[in-house]
Amino acid sequence: MIREIVKFPDPILERSTEPVTEFNDDLRKFVDDMFESMYAAKGIGLAAPQVGVSKRLTVIDLSFKERPEDRIILINPEIILREGKQYEEEGCLSLPEIREKVSRAAKVQVRAQDLDGNWFELEGTELLARAFQHEIDHLDGVLFIRRVSALKRDLILRRIRKMQKAGEW
Ligand code: NI
Repeated sequence: MIREIVKFPDPILERSTEPVTEFNDDLRKFVDDMFESMYAAKGIGLAAPQVGVSKRLTVIDLSFKERPEDRIILINPEIILREGKQYEEEGCLSLPEIREKVSRAAKVQVRAQDLDGNWFELEGTELLARAFQHEIDHLDGVLFIRRVSALKRDLILRRIRKMQKAGEW
């Protein structure tokens, strides 16, 4: 089932999420919905609050359906190691058309649970490291526009207000 993507400034996007505690068929179904909704919205990462569910869960597929082995499901993820720096442009399905450069760690290690509740660790560099940080930020209620300078954020917020007024948001 394709779920509607929640857009800024919906307050659920800036709220910290609850941990996932039940590893059952409902969770599997929800994760399927997440991938389906992400692909439908042409995204490579989606966090549960972005479909209106305040749970600590995110899905990523940098290959966008090309390689099934690239599908990543992170349940209750935490970043356990950050190294280096990168400064690249990011976008977000909850902030359509907004793109801005964000400073992130170049390499991160993530600890998370899979659909059966088993813990695993995963390392990412470059784009994958950025996706991990962007999506896990979502689970802490942090949007990427909170990670740019106040000046840039003001410009972005002004642009969004303009689009809202024009009925384009
Ligand atoms: Ni996002």
